[in-house]
Amino acid sequence: MAIINENYLKLQGNYLFAEIARRVNKYKEENPDANIIRLGIGDVTRPLVPAIIKAMHEAVDEMGKAETFRGYGPEQGYSFLISKIIDNDYKARGISLDEDEVFVSDGAKSDTGNIQEIFGLDNLIAVTDPVYPVYVDSNVMAGRTGVIDSSGRFGKITYLPCTAENSFVPELPKNRVDMIYLCFPNNPTGMTLSKEQLKKWVDYARENKSIILYDSAYEAFIKEDNVPHSIYEIEGAKEVAIEFRSFSKTAGFTGTRCAYTVVPKEVVAYTKNGEEHQLNKLWNRRQTTKFNGVPYVIQRAAEAVYTEEGQKQIKETIDYYMTNASIIREGLKSIGLQVFGGVNAPYIWLKTPKGLSSWEFFDKLLNEVNIVGTPGVGFGPSGEGYFRLTAFGSRENTEEAVERIKTRLEI
Ligand code: MLT
Repeated sequence: MAIINENYLKLQGNYLFAEIARRVNKYKEENPDANIIRLGIGDVTRPLVPAIIKAMHEAVDEMGKAETFRGYGPEQGYSFLISKIIDNDYKARGISLDEDEVFVSDGAKSDTGNIQEIFGLDNLIAVTDPVYPVYVDSNVMAGRTGVIDSSGRFGKITYLPCTAENSFVPELPKNRVDMIYLCFPNNPTGMTLSKEQLKKWVDYARENKSIILYDSAYEAFIKEDNVPHSIYEIEGAKEVAIEFRSFSKTAGFTGTRCAYTVVPKEVVAYTKNGEEHQLNKLWNRRQTTKFNGVPYVIQRAAEAVYTEEGQKQIKETIDYYMTNASIIREGLKSIGLQVFGGVNAPYIWLKTPKGLSSWEFFDKLLNEVNIVGTPGVGFGPSGEGYFRLTAFGSRENTEEAVERIKTRLEI
């Protein structure tokens, strides 16, 4: 008799975005004529820019000729891409990295979900609350969290509430924790930390020999100064932080799949006997065993992000989404809703009106004005009473959605 991994039974219902899709499909079946606008999952809608498409076409042609055909590539990614990542995303900000500290992958979702494998099961983890569900669920699957209680919290996770009351800035945990997940600009709240605020976390991690798992997938959307793009802008962070980045939102790769993770060689963790080990080596071992690299064609496409035209074109797309963000922000504010985020991130986080629960507001929005958003509570207990809209829709749909909310939603 084969035995299952019983930790899977501790997971709550469906994966959040799968559950939303299920509810929307049901509504669509019952209301086939409804013109639904989807501002739920943060999925991009603008096409890949011409510089990327050109590079992709050229790479496809190379794959069709014996002289330039490529089979298995390096599991960690091709040097042509890694060197561009280092020069443009790090060196330009005064951060030096070696090529073997960058691991190209198929997504920040996979990497933030998989990274926990190289850590012991006894580690105590801390997450901001609300939080991107992958960090929690992947630790539940591994058996690191205990079981969930009636408040929606897993017994062994330290939750760091981020609400309007603390301006969405998490406080340092009162108890010692070993692994800390931080995502800034934040998904789902769209809020950021200043360099001074992030430094407190780096200092905490250095003092406590903890590791920060820093998801920086939305850094390309930062507009304001003093908002760090990389955790390595903070002194000492290379000793304690792993950073996740993605081309998904930056350059429209949600369907194309390319991301990367930085594991500096200085970052160490310990055996139970106190023996020090480089996490870089462990992650390299994990990736070379379980992953065969991102397709050549896709890595060439990602490389084109760093060309002059590529940079100019993706900036136009990012500006397009951020204009959507301000249309949503200003539109909702004008009818008296309390809104957050949407300035340095493509997510708008709002307080539900009339004290409605997150799912009540989800149903109201879907039923009354046919708009799909994401219930805040789906990201964690402190998200209750909040709701997320994304700026990744088309301009037309974004304007239409705001108009419907302003004129037809009863609040
Ligand atoms: C989201 O909507 O939070 C994102 O699309 C999730 C993801 O990037 O996987």
